[in-house]
Amino acid sequence: MCGIAGYVGDEQARGIIIDGLKRLEYRGYDSAGIAVAGGGGLQIRKAVGRIDNLEKLIAEEPVKGSTGIGHTRWATHGEPTWANAHPHTDQEGGIAVVHNGIIENYAEIRAWLKEEHGVEFRSETDTEVIAQLIGLMYKGDLLEAVFEAVSKLRGAYAIGAVCAGEPDRIVAVRNDAPLIVGLGENCNFLASDIPAMLKYCRSIYFIENSETVLITKDDVTIFNAKREEVKRDIYHVTMDADAAEKGGHDHFMIKEIYEQPQGIMKTIERRMDGGGRIKLDGIKLGKGELGAIDRVYIVACGTAYHAGLVGKYAIERFAGIPVEVDIASEFRYRSPFVNKKTLFICISQSGETLDTLMALREAKKRGARVLSIVNVVGSSVARESDDVFYTWAGPEIAVASTKAFTTQMMCLYLLALYMAGETGALDSGRFQSLMDELKQVPEKISEILAREDEIEKIAKRIYKKENIFFIGRGLDASVAFEGALKLKEISYIHAFAIAAGELKHGTIALIDMDTLVIALASQDALNEKIISNIKEVKARGAEVISLVKDGNAKIAGESDDTIYIPACMDEVAPIMAIVPLQLLAYHIAKLRGCDIDKPKNLAKSVTVE
Ligand code: M6R
Repeated sequence: MCGIAGYVGDEQARGIIIDGLKRLEYRGYDSAGIAVAGGGGLQIRKAVGRIDNLEKLIAEEPVKGSTGIGHTRWATHGEPTWANAHPHTDQEGGIAVVHNGIIENYAEIRAWLKEEHGVEFRSETDTEVIAQLIGLMYKGDLLEAVFEAVSKLRGAYAIGAVCAGEPDRIVAVRNDAPLIVGLGENCNFLASDIPAMLKYCRSIYFIENSETVLITKDDVTIFNAKREEVKRDIYHVTMDADAAEKGGHDHFMIKEIYEQPQGIMKTIERRMDGGGRIKLDGIKLGKGELGAIDRVYIVACGTAYHAGLVGKYAIERFAGIPVEVDIASEFRYRSPFVNKKTLFICISQSGETLDTLMALREAKKRGARVLSIVNVVGSSVARESDDVFYTWAGPEIAVASTKAFTTQMMCLYLLALYMAGETGALDSGRFQSLMDELKQVPEKISEILAREDEIEKIAKRIYKKENIFFIGRGLDASVAFEGALKLKEISYIHAFAIAAGELKHGTIALIDMDTLVIALASQDALNEKIISNIKEVKARGAEVISLVKDGNAKIAGESDDTIYIPACMDEVAPIMAIVPLQLLAYHIAKLRGCDIDKPKNLAKSVTVE
């Protein structure tokens, strides 16, 4: 969460930092601030709310200087107020700090600074503790002071610091929160994410855990925890800068929904060879390796977890290997049966979700081999995994995950089919028909997108509802969870998803004539069962909108309204069924006037536990 952008060079830093922060606004947007080191010491400007507010403030009260750091905040410690906005300074106001992540022992340090050193705090944040600590350690060398201060911190953090007395340098530190340095001409950049600096440079260093970096306009020096200088290869970013823009759409979310056919195509085409076989990007997962594992464990959060539920079904059904699926934040605090016989699959769009990263480390500690399905190349999850199977969805900016979800499912289908090919669990005819079906997915999603008007019509009819239930059986239950998540996170409507068969075990008590039920019925094999569930809720007065494959007149006849997807095999229906639900959530949120790309209380990448 939160975004950091920094610049040191010959230009005025403010515009470059503001520009960088705007590109990171999806990471948090409760407040924003900037500290610039210039001739007259440190100049700090902070504003509550979006970066536009900060920009207006700087236009009224300009700052001057060619070294600076900025921050866009997603509140963890303390409310989103001016006082809690970053940067924070030390007692004298000569050192400013921006920070992503959480300092776990901040309360102890705060008490110690107050009691032993009479430090007076001006905010409720854990970040101010870092600034005060650096200030206390400062004896004329910012780098030394940061080394000293950081040795006292516990937690996950990325920190950037500037100092009035050394206006030509930024010192930054990383521990379990992403941090990169961009290499420009006569200038260098600091950021938590690549998009912040794409406009200015394409050569970057990934800073690793426990590393500190000293950045001047001509030099970047990286130190390990023992304060030894380390060499780092330069990574050349190939990501298209335009891909991170809205391209004529009203919102990133709708742009990304429309990018799904292309993203899925890219995800498939690199993995299918001409001979009808699947290539796994060089990942060694042949008969021998599969024979050595006795289970697959899939771990992820939110939308990625829902993709994992579909992955479980596909791997068990196609390859005959048992699969457990777990929510990453729960995984570490149980005693999971994970050992060297486990293939551990992490799924993450950002590759920076801390819960997922921690689960990955736990699995490695227990001896598992880790294969991650990740969208962001070079992210922490990708770098710490034994193997990476990338979703080629392109940058996903909207907080609501859409194209990452469908490409994650596609990766899991490919993986499951690959495993089936190795274990011989599927006969060749069925293998081939599933492969053919997967190849048709991009086109079928395009057909669904062409029906957007129909979805918009339904949205206009139901957008004032305050309570919507999503029900489904088998694979449709996983899609129901994801459909409900999409709706609640961007429209703030209370949406509840449940495996339809579970309704009668309690939840049906909530169904009455004010309830809207979206019944997912893409599974031909479970048609009769879901019809019974539709009848159950209708008998209690609920309005039912069903989601069916083209031609399913029977379920349409039982429903008040119907959403159609193209005919397809049951096994791959989730990858199509979610698309109308994404569109529905989008249109409902738009009609309700919600801030679709930046929903309240949420941030794109969740780098806190
Ligand atoms: O970057 P990740 O895939 O690891 O993120 C996991 C979740 O935080 C994410 O999917 C979240 O649930 C989305 N906002 C859902 O749209």
